Amino acid sequence: YTVDWDVTAAEKGGYEWFMAKEIDEQPKAVADTLLGRVGTDGRLQLDEMRLSDDELREIDKIIVIACGTASYAGLVAKYAIEHWTRIPCEVELASEFRYRDPIIDRSTLVVAISQSGETMDTLMAIRYARQQRARVLSICNTNGSTIPRESDAVIYTHAGPEIAVASTKGFLSQMVACYLLGLYLAQVKGAKYGDEISHVIDELHAIPAKVQRMLDEGDQVRKLAADLVDRRSFLFLGRHVGYPVALEGALKLKELAYVHAEGFAAGELKHGPIALVEKGLPMFVVVPPRARDQLQEKIVSNIQEVRARGAYTIVLVEDGDDSVVPFADVVIRLPRTPTLLQPLVATVPLQIFAGELAELLGHDVDQPRNLAKSVTVE
Ligand code: G6P
Repeated sequence: YTVDWDVTAAEKGGYEWFMAKEIDEQPKAVADTLLGRVGTDGRLQLDEMRLSDDELREIDKIIVIACGTASYAGLVAKYAIEHWTRIPCEVELASEFRYRDPIIDRSTLVVAISQSGETMDTLMAIRYARQQRARVLSICNTNGSTIPRESDAVIYTHAGPEIAVASTKGFLSQMVACYLLGLYLAQVKGAKYGDEISHVIDELHAIPAKVQRMLDEGDQVRKLAADLVDRRSFLFLGRHVGYPVALEGALKLKELAYVHAEGFAAGELKHGPIALVEKGLPMFVVVPPRARDQLQEKIVSNIQEVRARGAYTIVLVEDGDDSVVPFADVVIRLPRTPTLLQPLVATVPLQIFAGELAELLGHDVDQPRNLAKSVTVE
């Protein structure tokens, strides 16, 4: 008599991979990270903020530090935080931060983003920042882990445990926490930009349903992966907050499918990447919302340029924008969102694509070769 019962299989809840389950949990991860953070008066309340409004008003510079996917959440944060607060915000890889003699003092807020809360480079960076008397706020998914314990303040992401090595729901919830931080700082500053806060909060609350739609439409992307399973190289282009999305789309493919993939800022196309374009090269392009006409028009011309050179263009573009359709081999529709929030929806098909390609290639999606969930060595 044997008990035919596998704990891991049970934890996977019917999914073949933890990552597939975690991708599907993203609407909840976003909703849970927002939960309880907006009071009945519409004001944000962050319970582990632990830095007083007076202390926060002293902040004149923000430096976001992180590794891997978390660093792309940091890149998104820069656009949002600077726009809403007018506080200069830099983003730096944790592994580079300590070694360049950064200019930090008591009025610097160092924001460490880490799903695990244990990444050694990020931990060493915040220790260094605190020695220099900077205030440290961490954005973390793991209660009581080392990085939040050593921080002055924490915004926990409520994504639930992330088991797959490659981060998915961790990333979306990190971006949500970054938006909350930016809005909170704007609220504390009482800046004129504060007007936007309640509008953005409403838009954030609409995100889980939009992410769900991207999941419901996932078969389009899975089919695309099957069509492109023999390709060994992929490029990703984005502008503004679409640029970190492009970087993340490429990183996921490297991590999971072990293929060459690179993300570029679309404006850099002519400074190198266009030389890589040859017939049939798959090129994902994240198109900014139409509301940002200047950005949108420029990227449309980028798509034309690469298409004319034979690239196979896969275009992520919001509903109702047909300007790119003539130059797109594949159109992936995105629900309309404000530009700054678009990464929350645009990332999802790229995650699904990478997971599917890895599976088709016969790789272990949850535990890619040579990678670790948390890198606890420098
Ligand atoms: C590893 C993981 C990535 C993750 C990075 C940062 O490389 O494979 O998915 O983005 O570490 O991890 P952290 O826990 O600090 O967010």
